[in-house]
Parts: sequence; C-alpha cells; structure tokens
Amino acid sequence: MSLFRLDASIRPEGSASRAIGDIVENTWREAQPDATITRRHIGLNPLPSTAWANAVFASQTPESDRTPDQREAVALAATIVDELLDAEVILIAAPLYNFGISHHLKAWVDLALTDPRLANGAGQPLAGKPAVLVVVRGGAYGPGTPREGWDHSTGWIRRILEDVWGLDLRIVEREFTLVGQNPALDEFTELAAVMRRDAEHLATHHGRHLASAGTK
Ligand SMILES: Cc1cc2nc3c(=O)[nH]c(=O)nc-3n(C[C@H](O)[C@H](O)[C@H](O)COP(=O)(O)O)c2cc1C
Repeated sequence: MSLFRLDASIRPEGSASRAIGDIVENTWREAQPDATITRRHIGLNPLPSTAWANAVFASQTPESDRTPDQREAVALAATIVDELLDAEVILIAAPLYNFGISHHLKAWVDLALTDPRLANGAGQPLAGKPAVLVVVRGGAYGPGTPREGWDHSTGWIRRILEDVWGLDLRIVEREFTLVGQNPALDEFTELAAVMRRDAEHLATHHGRHLASAGTK
C-alpha cells in the first residue's frame, strides 16, 4: 500500500492544512503500518519556475534537438507524474492564497499536464484512484457571507483532480483558520472552533476511507 502526499503551505511551522493532512495520513497509516509514503512539499521546496515553459517547448521539439534545460524539465515532469501513478492513494493539502490557487500548486499541475501520460486526450491513467483534498482558508466564504464566491481556488482544484484526472475525490475544508491570529475575527471564535472540529472529524473519516479504498 502506498500514499503520495503533496503539501502546498508556505509555512514551515503551524500549517493548518498540514495538520488536517496529518490526521488523514495518520488515520490511513493506522490501518497500513507497513505502507510507504512519498512526499512533495511544493510550498517549502517549490518546483523551478522555468520548468513548465521548458517542458511545454520540449514537447514541441524533436527529442534530439532539445536543450539541456528542456530535458531536465521533461524528466522532472515525468518524476512528478510517476509519483502520482505509482501511489495507490493520494493526499493533497492546499491553502487559499489571495483568493486563488497557490501558485506552487498551479505550477505542479501545469508541469504534470505536460507529461504525455496526462496530456489532453491521453486517457485517464489516474481514473478512479482514491484521493483526499484538504483545503484551508483564513476567512469564510459560505453562502450568505460577504465574500461568498471569492474562493477561486477550490473549484479549479476540483476541476483538475475530479474532472480532468478522474480521481475518486473526497474533500475536507476548514475555514476561519485566521481566527485567533487576526483580532478582527475574534467574534467568530466559537464558530471557528466548530469548523475546526468538524474538519478534523471529516479528516479521520476520509483517512479511514482511503485505507479501505486502497485495499480493494
Ligand atoms: C500571502 C497570504 C495570502 C492569503 N490570502 C488569503 C485569502 O485570500 N483568503 C483567505 O481566506 N485566507 C488567506 N490567507 C490565509 C490562509 O489561507 C490561512 O492562513 C491558511 O491557514 C494557510 O494555510 P496553512 O495554515 O496550511 O499555512 C492568506 C495567507 C497568506 C500567507
């Protein structure tokens, strides 16, 4: 049994997305004590920002004419796609930044999509693979809130993971992670505690699901 875990938080310490991801991972691990985990921390160890363009142009260049940078980018794309394909289950944890997708996560998806195995029309080698997506947001964006609709990250990530790659996806969302850090949000202390508890509960549930789905 094997898990691939991707973390996109830029924080070395105190990451809420990593903490929820840890609950999923630890719950999965309890049922799979001998399992292997491959990790990629794209927030702390970002992919080279030139890799995507080099990989795109490499795909339009005959192999024998590719530059060393293009070859390196193609190899990196192959490595990150190998990580996805080799794992039996996948865990991805991503914060909301500036109302949008973490650019590290976008760079990772973009690079993965240059690999011929995931390219448009190549079929869906990831279809049906069990996966959990953890998303955290400092604020809250639910129906009726002043910023309803301002989360331009989660929908895009789901589009890629569920619709483009066909993963069998379950999601844990935790909002108001900035409560306790930003005094302007103090009035939401109780609500934030409930949201946190609910997210942790769901993370345990999804960790168990990953463990059972991966053994089928
Ligand atoms: C540069 C930056 C931009 C952020 N932008 C937003 C935002 O647009 N909306 C929001 O709700 N939270 C925003 N946050 C708060 C993060 O989503 C929140 O702190 C989250 O917990 C970060 O994930 P982590 O705890 O895993 O590091 C931002 C945080 C940082 C550092």
